[in-house]
Parts: sequence; structure tokens; C-alpha cells
Amino acid sequence: MTLNIGVIGTGMIGQTHIRCITQALSGAAIAAVSDANRDLAKEVANDLPDAEVFDAGQELIESDHVDAVIVTSWGSTHEEFVLASIAAGKPVFCEKPLATEAAACRRIIDAEVAHGSRLVQVGFMRRYDVAYRVLKTVVDSGEIGAPLIYYSGHRNPEVPGSYTREMAIVDTAVHDFDMARWLLGEELVGIRVLPAKRNSRGGELLDPLLMILESESGVLVNVETSVNIAYGYDIRGEVVGETGTASLADRNLVDIRSAGARSGRIPADWRERFVGAFDTELQEWIDAIASGVAPTGPNSWDGYAATVVCDAGVESLAAGDRVAIALGTKPALYDSH
Ligand SMILES: NC(=O)c1ccc[n+]([C@@H]2O[C@H](COP(=O)([O-])OP(=O)(O)OC[C@H]3O[C@@H](n4cnc5c(N)ncnc54)[C@H](O)[C@@H]3O)[C@@H](O)[C@H]2O)c1
Repeated sequence: MTLNIGVIGTGMIGQTHIRCITQALSGAAIAAVSDANRDLAKEVANDLPDAEVFDAGQELIESDHVDAVIVTSWGSTHEEFVLASIAAGKPVFCEKPLATEAAACRRIIDAEVAHGSRLVQVGFMRRYDVAYRVLKTVVDSGEIGAPLIYYSGHRNPEVPGSYTREMAIVDTAVHDFDMARWLLGEELVGIRVLPAKRNSRGGELLDPLLMILESESGVLVNVETSVNIAYGYDIRGEVVGETGTASLADRNLVDIRSAGARSGRIPADWRERFVGAFDTELQEWIDAIASGVAPTGPNSWDGYAATVVCDAGVESLAAGDRVAIALGTKPALYDSH
């Protein structure tokens, strides 16, 4: 059976997902597309002979030809399309953020709980990266003892002029927050955001930032965002346990020996670093839906938690102080992953 997918938002990541589904993955086809920029949607559909172009995302969701929905429009529009997908009883994959406000995430959770089963998956693709998966297996096995500290480094060579101070938290570190919750299997309860001495390449940005978070059991999570670091897109991760440590290894495919030194390549950007994770994320989502199983990836609660942590981080940056993270009660629907 082919899963017929409708994509709302045919911009950069929407097109990436469409290419991935049509050229690399199996079991799904693009049956419909929609974008506020209709010309763009039509242009994208030119390469998709079976895709219908809809003026409104709502119409796409309600189409009988659409079995499942991918939402890749701007973050502020996600709530509307995720709620409409739940109302239509259709599985929906929503790029992060689930919604830009915690209250909107809560409305999605309420709608999904009322529906009675999980329909929503959020695009935290790092959970599908091979290295992160091995890191989690090691942590869960107990081989390094109970985790005590988790360091998560997120380094970009540069960011566009439209990148704001808060984006280091809500757009960049949001992935590190999700990784910390997932790796530790615990919620985060507090955050303190500390600007370091400024990188002169970053203009008015507060860059780098150091964020110190605590988990429920007291694990310290140390997130570094350096978004003007020039040398490459470098993702670091190390768990310090009671009897050992486990860290993401350098992923060099080529070892270079030259001029008396040994070196390796560092990815240029997030696409290069996480291309495999995006493929696995969508293939597992397609396979789960096709076999009638609820997707097991990041759910609405995970999307909500990430947004609440980001809000607390933004508040901490402005206040210069620790801010508590309060999630409230998790509905039973999200108890098992
Ligand atoms: N998981 C990741 O690492 C990752 C990477 C990149 C982007 N994203 C997320 O994906 C989303 C899209 O990002 P992008 O970089 O592709 O942006 P983009 O601007 O390239 O594309 C977004 C598209 O959505 C369309 N759009 C906006 N409002 C709409 C509406 N109401 N109905 C239909 N279409 C609408 C815009 O016209 C645009 O074409 C964002 O939420 C972003 O945070 C996630």
C-alpha cells in the first residue's frame, strides 16, 4: 500500500522532505501540496505528476486523496494545521516547533487526548541520527553508570542577518533540549542562560551562549551555542556517568594526513550532518502509519516540553537569572514512547 501524503509549506524543508520521499524512501507518494505562495506550490508540483495543488492547507487536510499530512510551513501556522489534521483523524508530521506558544501546544495535546490515540509526530530528527541512537543505547545499558552531566555543543559556522538573539535558544538550542530530555529520559526543571564574551563575528548577537539546565533527578545539562564559529557545523555530545563517559565520536569519513598533520572533514551545515537522520525519521514514520501502528517518534508532549524550555530560556536570558521550568501533568497518552 502506498501512503498518500499532503505537504503544507513547500519552502526549504518542505522541498527537502518531498525530495526525500520521492527519491530515497519507499512506501509513500506526494498526493497534494499547498503553500501560501501558490506559485511556489505549483512550481514544486511540476515535478510531482500525481500531486494536486490546494489553495488552503485546510482543504488539503480534508482531501480524500490525502492519508497523512506533513506540516512544513512557518512555525506560527503549525497549530492550525496540526489541529485540523487531528480533527480529520489523520496522522500529521509537524516540523519543529509544534507551536510557537506553550498554550497552543497545550491545545494540540488536549485535542489529541480527546481523539484518544496519537496522531502527531514532531520533527526532532536528531533522535534518528545513528550516533545519537548508539549514545542512548550506551546510556540506557548502564555501562557508564548513572548520568551526572550531559554536555551538548551546537556550533554553526555562521547565521543569516535575520537571526535574532532569541533564536540561539528557540531555533538552535531547542534541538539540544530535546536531546537532553530523550537521552536522560527525564524532564528539565530549570535553566540559566549565560552570555559569554562575545564573538566579534556575531555583531549584536549574544554569541556564544552557555545554558545550564537541571533535570528532575539533578543531572546538569550544559548546552553551548556558538553560531559564528567559522570552522564548520559541529555537533558535540558527551554524557558523564558515575563510572565512565560516552560521547559522539567525530564522524570523519576520510582521514587526511598532510603536511605533518592528521585531520578530517567537518560538515558544512546541518543538512550534511543530519541527512541520514531525516531519511530515517520519515521512513520510520511512513512504515508505522502503513502498518497501522501509532508513530513512536517525538510526540506532542515532547513538542510542548521543548517550547516550555525555550520560553524559560528566553526569560532567563532577559532576566539574567535561573528560571524554573514547569510542565504540569503529562497525560497518560504520552507515557510510553
Ligand atoms: N528539523 C529541523 O532541523 C528543521 C530544519 C529547517 C526548518 N525546520 C522548520 O521547518 C519549518 C519551515 O522552515 P523552512 O526553513 O522550510 O521555511 P521556508 O520559509 O523556506 O518555508 C516555509 C513555507 O511555508 C509557507 N507558508 C507560510 N505560511 C503558510 C500557510 N499558512 N499555509 C501554507 N504555507 C505557508 C511559506 O510560503 C514558505 O514557502 C519551520 O518551522 C522551521 O523551524 C526544521
